[in-house]
Formats: sequence, structure tokens, C-alpha cells
Amino acid sequence: MKNLGDVFKKLISHCKEYGFIYPSSEVYDGLSAVYDYGPYGVELKNNIKTYWWKAMVQMHENIVGIDSAIFMHPKIWKASGHVDAFNDPLIDNRDSKKRYRADVLIEEYLGKIDDKIDKEIEKAAKRFGSAFDEGVFRSTNERVLKYAEERGRIAQRYVKAMEDNDLAELKQIIVDCEIVDPEGGSRNWTDVRQFNLMFATHFGALAGATEEDNRVYLRPETAQGIFVNFLNVQRTTRQKLPFGIAQIGKAFRNEIVARQFIFRMREFEQMEMQFFVPPGSEMEWYNYWREERLKWHKAIFNSSQLRFHVHEKLAHYANAAVDIEFEFPFGFKEIEGIHSRTNFDLGNHQEFSGKKMQYFDPDLGESYVPFVVETSVGADRTFLAVMTSALQEEEVPDAEGGTALRTVLKLHPALAPVKVAVLPLVAKDALTDKARQIFSELKMSVQCQYDEKDSIGRRYRRQDAIGTPYCVTVDFDTLTDDTVTIRNRDTLQQERVPISAVEAIITKATGINQLLR
Ligand code: GAP
Repeated sequence: MKNLGDVFKKLISHCKEYGFIYPSSEVYDGLSAVYDYGPYGVELKNNIKTYWWKAMVQMHENIVGIDSAIFMHPKIWKASGHVDAFNDPLIDNRDSKKRYRADVLIEEYLGKIDDKIDKEIEKAAKRFGSAFDEGVFRSTNERVLKYAEERGRIAQRYVKAMEDNDLAELKQIIVDCEIVDPEGGSRNWTDVRQFNLMFATHFGALAGATEEDNRVYLRPETAQGIFVNFLNVQRTTRQKLPFGIAQIGKAFRNEIVARQFIFRMREFEQMEMQFFVPPGSEMEWYNYWREERLKWHKAIFNSSQLRFHVHEKLAHYANAAVDIEFEFPFGFKEIEGIHSRTNFDLGNHQEFSGKKMQYFDPDLGESYVPFVVETSVGADRTFLAVMTSALQEEEVPDAEGGTALRTVLKLHPALAPVKVAVLPLVAKDALTDKARQIFSELKMSVQCQYDEKDSIGRRYRRQDAIGTPYCVTVDFDTLTDDTVTIRNRDTLQQERVPISAVEAIITKATGINQLLR
């Protein structure tokens, strides 16, 4: 069994060594929870964003895109509730000097109880075989009932404490549950304090204005840029409800706990879609988007790596919320949030701006503030999940008839940063000229690389490590019959094909449309 800590460390060092992700400002010892994408990282991330954009915008006649500014009027964040409610409750451990989110400590504790219940069910299912009835077992087994009772009691206290903003009670739950510092095991906790996650800066220098007057925020979510443009977009595109507005862009949060590489960053990218619906139909659309979004993930991940997690505690704007979680090396964690946001945002913008945020429904002959279902997925978290599921080490046959260990990134070809590498078998003029000719043609259609340095075996390994699905090798036969071999990264099979067929084979196998079917 692999040590998951080691797996994660290997992933981080692979990302750096092969030009996917570097720590920001590394020559100055880095900047906490900020990262830069390298040459392969930016290609992979762009492919993820293209997949999302095509799946959400291009494939839906009733979804359109925008790209709103990061800076917005400061009143927007008052109206959205972020100035007053976008807080995390933080708690410090006096011994380890580590800072944690109190809500996360409690949710992890609840998660551990869930795991215990799951284990009991798993054991019993094995014992009873096909006669096993999970419903009956859950409602009668003493141990499961005890765990469920404890879970229900703590969850109830926790939700109430969060709703009431009762920080003393949050601390008391941590004390009562004997939750220890995950790093040092100590229970020497400080009190819980609230911490607003928004970064603020100042606009220009207005004579006579106070710092408060000039304050602007770096947006903590892209969604508000969509809400405040709702009427602009609806009028200019003449969309009828239900319709959606999608956006990809940067968001910024002053995260308290930022220790898991690009999982929790202070500057990150979101891919969000707000779906505007008539009041009363929001639960139907919420259920629809839950399933649609899961399908999107299933096209790039194994189903066993994904699960839903229904929220215990709802964000200040939501009446229903579910996360899609991915199994990272540090456990199942949120990759996407789907929220039924009611008419909270549009209603508040209407109130704070004094401008109508209403839609005239021609079918009903009346105006109303639409309800909203939101899908919000992190581009960086998706990137991390893609790398997690792709990075593998495996034994492959070597040239001497033995085996060798290779590191390979089994990325979906549509996401791979380089689709094909063109490699002359050896660096001899006749071969390199021919290979360059093929490269010049191919690079017009796909992201393509030419490499003639080192032995062919080493060049294949380099391409495996960055996830290139195909290598086209130019050998001496090429010079006489205009054919090349195409090596498949995963099967290691080499197929001989005419040069004239290469472009069609590669573009067909690596196009984003492979993921949209
Ligand atoms: N507009 C709703 C919203 O922002 P969220 O659950 O706070 O909801 C949505 O964020 C997604 O954004 C998350 O599922 C995650 O993928 C990504 N995300 C949030 N905070 C992040 C962070 N600090 N670093 C990286 N990704 C983050």
C-alpha cells in the first residue's frame, strides 16, 4: 500500500520538475499559497478551461459567456453579504502554533464518524452477502445507531453555532469532542475568532476621501460579475428564462489554512455558471445541474474517485448546496460546489443599487426577480485532480528484454499539454530534415513538439512524463516510403502509417470533442 503523503510529495515535485507548476516568487523563498503555472501547466489548464467552456457554453444554446472585471464597485460586496458574512472561524493551537478553521476541524470529526458507520456497513455486507439489507442494518445495529446518534447531536450543535455565529460554542464543540491538533496531537486551543477572507486595496487618490471611501476588493468569487450584468446580458442576447451566464476568471481569498499545494490558494481561478430560473423551479434545476456536472467530471475521472457531499451548513446565500468531491491524496475533498442561491443576490443588488433586477416573463405576463442555480468549479482544483489521477509509475519492457520503471502521466489526450512529439530516430540530417517538415505541418493543427536530443528511449520517457499521448518517429524507412510510426503512450504499441494520415489521426484522437460526446 502506497503512503499517500509520499504520493502527494511526488506529485508536487513532478509538477515542478516537468514545468507544470512552480512556487510563486521562488527566488525570494516563495509566497504562501500562490503558485505559477509553467509551460506544460498553462497548456493543461487552458485545455481544462476549454473543456469546461465548450461543455457549458458551446453545447448549450441557452448559456452565454462573459468576462467581467476583477475590480467591482465596493457596494457589490456589501449587497452580496461578503463584507459581513464571508468569514472563516479560526482557531490556533498554542503548542504547535498552527492555525486551523474551526468549522473544518468539526466537519472532519463528523467525517470520521461517517467513516466508522461506513466500515460497519461494509463489514456486515460482506458477512451477510446477498441477504444484506442496508436500511434494516442502519436502523437496528447498535453500534451504527450509537455513531449516528452522536453524529446527529454534534452536527445539530455545529449548524446552530454557525448560523448563530456563536464562536464560543464552536470552541466548546471542539473541546467536548476532544478534537486534537492534526499535526501535533495537542488540545491546547485558543478561542475561536472570525476572519474576513476578502483582500482589500485602494483606488486612486481622491482628494478628501477617506481610506474607507477608496476601498475596493479583489473579488472572492466571479459570480457577482455575472449577477450585476444579468440585465445587460439578458437584453443583449434576448434570452428567455431559464438561461445561464458563464464566466472563467481569477478569484482571491485570504485563506487561513493554505497547506495543500494548489488545493487552497490565495489567488485561484473559478469556472462559474449562474442559471437564472423562474421562482419555484429552482430545485428541479438544482437536481438537473448536480447530475450534469457529475457527468462532466466522469468524462475525465473514474467514478470511484468522485462522490457527492451534501452541505451541513449552507452559505449565507443558499437554500440547498452539494459539493462534488474528488479523492485527492489527502482524502475526498470539494472540487465543485452546486448551490441553489435563491433570489438572494439579484434581490440584494436590486435593493442596494436601487435599480430593478427583474425579468419580464412573457408567458406569465409578469415581472419577477429570477432564482439562481450556480455551478462553481475551481480550475486549479480540477488541475490538481487531473494530475492526481494521471501520475503513475509502472514497469515496462526495456530494450534488453528486461523491465524498467517509467513515470507516465496518463492524461486524457484531449487535456494533454502536448498532443504529439515528432522525433527523428537519430539526429542525422536526412531524418531531422524530414521530421522538421512533418513538425511544421502538424504544429498548425495541434500543440506539437520536436525533439532530437538524447537517445530515442530517453525522449519517449520525457514525453511520457509530460503526458504526450502520441510520438511520431521518423526512421530510415520514412525516407523511402513516406511512412512513420505512431507510438501510443499507454499501450506502447507502434503503428506504421503514411505521413499523409498523421494529422487526421492525431487531431481526431486528441480533440476536445472527444470529451463532449
Ligand atoms: N460562487 C460560489 C463559490 O465561490 P465556493 O465553494 O466557495 O463557491 C467554488 O468555491 C469552487 O472554487 C470550489 O469548489 C473550489 O474548486 C474553488 N475554490 C474555492 N476556494 C479556493 C481556493 N482557496 N483555492 C483554490 N480553489 C478554490
